[in-house]
Amino acid sequence: MNETLLRAARGRTVPFTPVWIMRQAGRYLPEYRALRKGRTMLQVLHNPDLAAAITLMPLRRFELDAAIIFYDILPPLRGMGLDLTFVPGRGPVLADPLRTTKQIDRLRVPPATEAMPEVLETIRRVKPELHVPLIGFAGAPFTLASYAIEGGYSRTFLRTKRMMASEPAAWDRLMMKLMAVAADLLQEQVDAGVDCVQVFDSWAGALGPADYRRYVAPYTRRLFKRLGALNVPVIHFSTGTAGTLEYLVQAGGDVIGVDWRIGLDAARRIAQRPVMGNLDPAALFAPWRELRARTDELLQSAGPRGHIFNLGHGILPETPLDNVRRLVDYVHEKTQGDA
Ligand code: CP3
Repeated sequence: MNETLLRAARGRTVPFTPVWIMRQAGRYLPEYRALRKGRTMLQVLHNPDLAAAITLMPLRRFELDAAIIFYDILPPLRGMGLDLTFVPGRGPVLADPLRTTKQIDRLRVPPATEAMPEVLETIRRVKPELHVPLIGFAGAPFTLASYAIEGGYSRTFLRTKRMMASEPAAWDRLMMKLMAVAADLLQEQVDAGVDCVQVFDSWAGALGPADYRRYVAPYTRRLFKRLGALNVPVIHFSTGTAGTLEYLVQAGGDVIGVDWRIGLDAARRIAQRPVMGNLDPAALFAPWRELRARTDELLQSAGPRGHIFNLGHGILPETPLDNVRRLVDYVHEKTQGDA
């Protein structure tokens, strides 16, 4: 197996900088769009054959150094009792968002083997097909809570922030439940065969340092403590964290994933451990010469070793595939023999 990603995640020497792309199994691929035609997101997520096929799609096109299971961070909320759908053109929608403490107390914490057997089956089917590590994942408690409370994506996170400030005891119970669900799901994913896991706290950057430390870090820290027993590298990813990164790092993770709003040199200085990132997904829309120049700068600021190349957030639907292929090949070529 090509273990470059796992070595980089441990800060070991690597033959080249490993590359994978957040949302690499998704809408920018015409074969994905074709397979999704006439099927809902949930139908596909709950069909291990289709989910396994989608997981493999980007690997057939590009020399990626990891696969990520085709799933989503939100289905665990269904097992807890919330009504999740993915609405075309709009994204995830929860029909009965959490607005009262009573609703929080009614949330279940079912084991992943019961609530999400499909994703575990997808892992078992994909794993024998791979010559690169398979990444499993879960949403972090805060990011899951924000969807559960807002009912979908939010620009302001107002209801979530109001809940944490005005109902701190209920917030604690909610975050503990979400932490338990995520920890169990990741444990089961590792047992099913994933080689690495990523915790997506995509919206943690919505909070300032004091709120992050008070309302988020205690739960994230507990989660990472439990993940320490899994013996696979754990990536802690978030966006917009230039001002809170030290506290995210303290919460845990073997690798810290950042977006483009912080330089990788600064991120490495703060993290003092391997980092993942952080090309702006919009850079893939630039002419190749420009994209290459930005990639050079990025690799320069990352330095050798302890860097996993990725975008700073998910790849965008209209991304030119030619630039993706050139980018992946270029990172390999350029970093060959660096460390
Ligand atoms: O390739 C991969 O990364 C694997 C699969 C994956 C999906 N979602 C599939 C998906 C992963 C890792 C995710 C994570 C995810 N999902 C996150 C964390 C990462 C991030 O982007 O911050 C979040 C916040 C979600 C929630 C979610 N799911 C949103 C906001 C949306 C709608 C917006 C969008 O990007 O489409 C989804 C839908 C979704 N999840 C799609 C895919 C491929 C698009 C569904 C479609 O085909 O229409």
